[in-house]
Amino acid sequence: MIKLVNLPKIPDDRGNLSFIEEESNIPFKIKRTYWIYDVPGGETRGSHAFKKSKEFIVAISGSFDIILHDGKEETKYSLNRSYYGIYVPKLTWRRLENFSTNSLALILSSTAYNENDYIRDFDEFLTFVK
Ligand code: TYD
Repeated sequence: MIKLVNLPKIPDDRGNLSFIEEESNIPFKIKRTYWIYDVPGGETRGSHAFKKSKEFIVAISGSFDIILHDGKEETKYSLNRSYYGIYVPKLTWRRLENFSTNSLALILSSTAYNENDYIRDFDEFLTFVK
């Protein structure tokens, strides 16, 4: 199930600290990490689903919106703090947009990169989840 997850936050006068541990804060083992940055204003990333990959997405810096569709309904989440993120289960159509200047989207994935895991056509996605 799609889930907004509050991460640990260790407040400190020297600067705050947050962390993620696999199979603890997030329900999978991390196989890959990637990040999206330098997104020009108005651009959209994503617009696809994964057959197997589960992901966890954090706005490490700045803000952006993530629009998720589970095959039945669409929900929009705004990520704008580095101490929470969103768990995106497999078979979720996802789109990232409305990136602020200098925003940084950190994405933890349960699988290595594999183009065959992508569903890039929305109608195909709807058929696949049924
Ligand atoms: P893609 O996932 O399609 O980006 P978007 O966020 O727009 O959906 O990835 C863009 C390109 O980067 C694509 O050619 C595949 C490549 N890529 C990798 O090689 N390794 C990766 O881990 C990722 C996420 C993408």
